[in-house]
Amino acid sequence: MCGIVGIVGNAPVSERMVEALKRLEYRGYDSAGIAVIEDGRIARRRAPGKLENLRAVVAESPVDGVTGIAHTRWATHGVPNEANAHPHIAGSVAVVHNGIIENFAELKAELIAAGAAFTSDTDTEVVARMLDHYRCAGMAPREAVLAMLARVTGAFALVILFEDRPDTLYVARFGPPLAVGYGDGEMFVGSDAIALAPFAHGISYLEDGDMAIVDRDGVEFCDFAGNPVSRRRQPLQLSSMLIDKGNHRHFMEKEIFDQPEVISHTLGHYCDFASERVAVDGDGIDFSRVSRLQIAACGTAYLSGLIGKYWIERIARLPVEIDVASEFRYREIPVSKEDLALFISQSGETADTLASLRYCKESGARTGALVNVTGSTIAREADAVFPILAGPEISVASTKAFTCQLALMASLALRAGRERGTLSEADERLMVHQLSEVPRLMSRVLHDVQPKIERLARELSRFHHVLYLGRGTSYPLALEGALKLKEITYIHAEGYAAGELKHGPIALIDENMPVIVIAPHDRFFEKTVSNMQEVAARDGRIIFITDESGAKASDLKTMETIVLPDMPEFIAPMVFSLPIQLLAYHTAVFMGTDADQPRNLAKAVTVE
Ligand code: F6R
Repeated sequence: MCGIVGIVGNAPVSERMVEALKRLEYRGYDSAGIAVIEDGRIARRRAPGKLENLRAVVAESPVDGVTGIAHTRWATHGVPNEANAHPHIAGSVAVVHNGIIENFAELKAELIAAGAAFTSDTDTEVVARMLDHYRCAGMAPREAVLAMLARVTGAFALVILFEDRPDTLYVARFGPPLAVGYGDGEMFVGSDAIALAPFAHGISYLEDGDMAIVDRDGVEFCDFAGNPVSRRRQPLQLSSMLIDKGNHRHFMEKEIFDQPEVISHTLGHYCDFASERVAVDGDGIDFSRVSRLQIAACGTAYLSGLIGKYWIERIARLPVEIDVASEFRYREIPVSKEDLALFISQSGETADTLASLRYCKESGARTGALVNVTGSTIAREADAVFPILAGPEISVASTKAFTCQLALMASLALRAGRERGTLSEADERLMVHQLSEVPRLMSRVLHDVQPKIERLARELSRFHHVLYLGRGTSYPLALEGALKLKEITYIHAEGYAAGELKHGPIALIDENMPVIVIAPHDRFFEKTVSNMQEVAARDGRIIFITDESGAKASDLKTMETIVLPDMPEFIAPMVFSLPIQLLAYHTAVFMGTDADQPRNLAKAVTVE
């Protein structure tokens, strides 16, 4: 899940490649590098750590040319040091790679036996060494690339530069995404459309098993056997993708504060607020004919699906099976033609989610993709696409994509209820009206709770372990709260269904373990309060996230109580997401961790 870029330009490319890498940094930021053809030779600059380190290296020791390749890395094989940073060079070949070469150990042994000397611990270097080996044996670049593609197994997006072909890039895809961009007398290659947006006005996506030869005049696509294939050129409309933090310290903070606005776009797309009816799209899906809904997703996207399950089962009386995609893809679950399978993914590129989609397609189920990146592989392969419409999410920790996924799930639950005859017109109107209030309630919460949460974050940062509890739709929110806190503050956090407390985790409760209880004043409130009493009786410190009615109804002593306005139970998960996001964010800021780019993570997980 690294980010890759290539340019065949008519002006120097180094600065533009670093700019493009900046837009791809969400895919990995362990190290970065560029290689260009300078005075007829491949010249390279690399640096471990964030892209800024590479920028400094290039500033100190400039290198430039009109053709180049570049990479930002999320390490899979080999520690993130300079030697393992891409591009990898062997003889007169330079390579950047996203993915994993599964048979690299076997290939490496063969190449070493043939006299190759390796300089890194990466799987990628075998590609460069093999290409160099084939070129030294007299093969032309195209033949060498095809011969290499016939040997490697695994997942890869590759961009290759040969010293003796200074105006050409050779690219190949099997798994991770890769796109070719069309400029004015220049051509581009990149991991996604965001990377190419400022330079290109047209784009073609490589399919799995495609190789492409890109030069200043255009691109030629073929399969791995060398047979020509054609790939559609599409306009690139990404002017709205200008990425800017505005007045915020981090993208995560900006994205949290963007939510009232972006969720109104999502809701406005799926609901007609004038008629107070949910919009029924012409996507060919009829929920009245669906006998079971399957959902697969990863991480935060999975948790939005879990909340969707609660809504869809209750409102549309439709059984929903949900699993994390890494398990779903291998469980060999029986899937039938009457099933609808939905895949939720911000990036639309998550490898396990994509594999789950392919499994369901092969099994004959109808498939739908709930994605933020509509040009993504998952979107392109699904039968129906439901855009999340959150706008580009740059911070690695998902915030606005999560609440927009919830908005979409809530709208789909209403639509399914309507199509299945389990939701009366009056209830549909009432619930669409409730959805229309989400942006206003979100704005109010962001304004009201921020100062208190900042103070609380300071206290929370002293602890090493935190427990989150919730019931009903607040249970997935408890899981999401714990995930958000651990990923950006590195504090150990666990989420539990409040009713599970006494089945094990209660043994952990003492004054060193704050318990964050998410409990709006809903059907489950009294039961959750009983669980809070069990915590209080054992000297546990409670952070209570509730609404005005909930705050009035409980007299338990808490470390802090965060009070949101009263709101209908249906919409509470969207609005209650905000305090848990803010708490994780401010704790990270207070502790000085990198909220936007937490360690070891990447935004798009295109490997298993
Ligand atoms: C957590 C987070 C991850 C992603 C997960 C799936 O804040 O962002 O857990 O939700 O990696 O990614 P997508 O949605 O791109 O499939």
